Amino acid sequence: MTEAQLELSAEEMRRLGYRVVDLLVQHFGRMRDAPVGAKGKPEELLARFAGDPPEAPTDPHELVARLESEVFPNNLHVDHPRFFAFVPGPGNYISTMADALASGFNVFNGTWLGGSAAAAMELAVIGWFRRFCGFPETAGGLFVSGGSAANLTALHSARAAKLGDRTADATIYFSDQTHYSVERALRVLGFAREQFRKIPSDDSFRLPMQSLREAIRADREAGLRPFCVVANAGTTNTGAVDPLSDLADLCAEEGLWLHADGAYGAAAIICDRGRQKLAGLDRVDSLSLDPHKWLFQPFECGCVLVRDAAQMKSAFQLMPEYMRDVHRNTAETNPADYGIQLSRGFRALKVWLSINTFGLAAFRDAITRGFELAEFAESELRRRRNCEILSPAEMAIVAFRFGNDDALQTRLVDLMLRDGFAFLTSTTLKGVTALRLCTINPRTTEQDIVQTIDRLETFAAV
Ligand SMILES: Cc1ncc(COP(=O)(O)O)c(C=O)c1O
Repeated sequence: MTEAQLELSAEEMRRLGYRVVDLLVQHFGRMRDAPVGAKGKPEELLARFAGDPPEAPTDPHELVARLESEVFPNNLHVDHPRFFAFVPGPGNYISTMADALASGFNVFNGTWLGGSAAAAMELAVIGWFRRFCGFPETAGGLFVSGGSAANLTALHSARAAKLGDRTADATIYFSDQTHYSVERALRVLGFAREQFRKIPSDDSFRLPMQSLREAIRADREAGLRPFCVVANAGTTNTGAVDPLSDLADLCAEEGLWLHADGAYGAAAIICDRGRQKLAGLDRVDSLSLDPHKWLFQPFECGCVLVRDAAQMKSAFQLMPEYMRDVHRNTAETNPADYGIQLSRGFRALKVWLSINTFGLAAFRDAITRGFELAEFAESELRRRRNCEILSPAEMAIVAFRFGNDDALQTRLVDLMLRDGFAFLTSTTLKGVTALRLCTINPRTTEQDIVQTIDRLETFAAV
């Protein structure tokens, strides 16, 4: 090993690569038979990785062995077929290889000059998404780290387009089911809490049009400046989709920007079930859509689309002198002009490579399966003693509870984690603690669901 150059010999690289690939193949091949993962104790894990870096080299095979025994088992496997918590991350092997390639070639995907083919491929994949969603040709977008960054990017575009730099007295509207990344993005953008209107959702956890209309009217009468509505295209809690067409009508009448947070649900637009649920999505001004959720990509792979890409560019583009060579040719698109990252990795590659490899039909079927599994889970839960459905299967999420005791639901989460066979998490719906199953992983079988519910029923009864 020639340490000074941080290099391995070709043979060493190959041997280490094979070792890593073997480990990954084992992970993908055997995850179903392994526990859903584990949460380590802070005092143990922090101590294990404490200490200064070594001056001397260590055999990387030894280090990989350490990762195998100490790191990977002490995480939850969000791609496991019985991981139903939060929003699962059912990645795929092709995209894993794409990440290795993007990282190995260290593709710079910030400018056309630095990464022209990468920029062209990103534009092509954004073009796919644009057409899936029915956006016009003026639309554009960007790959970002995830839904939080997508919401931030979209809301900055909305602010720039509607308010310029004058944000005082501007107000923004969303339901109480909206993901907290929206509120955090608004705070990052400098909005004060008094400028948010968090509207109580209806019995189906959707944004009620009447309350929204009244809130906008009251704010206008008070001399405030409504500028944006954030709609949900699949909430994290229950999969609820806000009335997108009605919201688009209202926003057009009122001159408001309509952003849809589809970080969880928007990818479902590629299948018939999703297209029906998401009617009206083609009319929003901006959209967050996370391929690292329901499009089966590994983290970090979020995406933001804006109906008029020029608005996104005018919100973000700056032209410092040291970038003059980048901006000389206007026919070239620089992804860095559309968001907050300059140096950025080649996220589009994993989407491109996996969709080309498996074909879009396989993705469509995999998403449809998520809908069906949640419906299966709901019917199974309805047959169980002492189980109440709190939100029926919607966009691959079903919420329920065993018994009538909030503390029992939390206890069930802990017992499931300790047991290790399957994992799910709890939330609060209209003041009561609920359990939820999010079934977007196409590796999940009906038997996985039955066995998971069996365990919940047994734990609930003791
Ligand atoms: C609806 C919704 N929006 C935004 C986010 C945030 O996405 P990320 O975790 O990728 O930042 C999530 C995450 O679950 C989500 O479900």
